[in-house]
Amino acid sequence: TIHPVIMCGGSGTRLWPRSRKSMPKPFLPLVGEATLFEETLERCDDPGLFAAPVVVTGTAHLAHVEAQTAGREATIVVEPEAKNTAPAIALAAALLPADAIMLVCPSDHHIADIAAFRSAALAAAALAGEDYMVAFGIEATHPETGYGYIKSGEVLGKGRKVERFVEKPDLESARAFVVDGGYSWNGGIFAFRAGAFLAELEEQRPDMAVAVRRSVAQGRHDGARFHPAAEPFAAIAGESVDYAVMEGTRRAAMVPVSMGWSDIGGWPALRDARAGDAHGNRVRGNAELVDCRNVLVESDGPRVSVIGLSDVAVVVDGDEVLVTTMDGAQLVGKLGGAANQ
Ligand code: GDD
Ligand code: MG
Repeated sequence: TIHPVIMCGGSGTRLWPRSRKSMPKPFLPLVGEATLFEETLERCDDPGLFAAPVVVTGTAHLAHVEAQTAGREATIVVEPEAKNTAPAIALAAALLPADAIMLVCPSDHHIADIAAFRSAALAAAALAGEDYMVAFGIEATHPETGYGYIKSGEVLGKGRKVERFVEKPDLESARAFVVDGGYSWNGGIFAFRAGAFLAELEEQRPDMAVAVRRSVAQGRHDGARFHPAAEPFAAIAGESVDYAVMEGTRRAAMVPVSMGWSDIGGWPALRDARAGDAHGNRVRGNAELVDCRNVLVESDGPRVSVIGLSDVAVVVDGDEVLVTTMDGAQLVGKLGGAANQ
């Protein structure tokens, strides 16, 4: 059985004004009726395959996590503070039995093909059982610099060995990787044997491994919640698992998977993940569109009327209105409104 470990920490600034500090991206029903976090729980809800999940989150998101896990069996690890993904994963690893196979899942992705996700999880779990650090490889279609890149090597089980893992390359390198063709994107989903992950961390970041072990040893259970001790955790220099473990390990492996994956990195990605009408428009809320193509409208109140535009997003949320071209949407984080939300 596979132990899902669900990471809830990010903010999702590029989906402002829908995603706010008080109600961030994972907890919003962005693609379908369920929130991205609920979609993640549902994907990992198959008693034949998965154990009850461990959700790692901070106090800022705890209320949302508890509301959206209501009625499900889950262990909630409450991080004393955000230290990025390597320590968060290590907390779950230290809490689980050493031989548990963990499947680390971000809480803010959409995956259209759940059957493909589950069969990749099985393939990844088999390699994790041989102490490989296993990533999900997604076809790299364009030189996105916000992702990790995986160069695959020789065949290994239902996956491949990883020759090279490069986290968030510059644009020039990303272009070269896409042209090369031998690289996949890192999907941000990983499989590890808990004990093997901690051993690897011990080698690469012994400071982190020691601090996390202490924090868990001195932590306390409170019903379904686990509170790691704050003091050892505070000393950690935070880093993502991609830099802290995946770039440096000699035991990296990957499973290639085609599952309709999207990390909903901004308004264009959200538009593409939603089903459109005959003109490619995606409308949620009260709106009237005339002569529009591939327009995304989202309004929680006021009626939105748009004429003669294509590839724009109009988002109304409370007292904020965003109007942007799809190309401009990557700059949303630079707006004062998004910064001071
Ligand atoms: N609990 C907890 N604590 N969760 C966290 C923390 C933290 O301090 N920081 C981030 N997370 C969660 C986020 O909520 C998200 O679900 C997941 O961990 C990944 O973090 P991101 O901050 O979204 O990472 P990224 O998108 O920049 O990069 C990662 O994902 C890409 C694919 O979407 C990397 O793994 C890349 O290599 C990968 O391509
Ligand atoms: Mg992300």
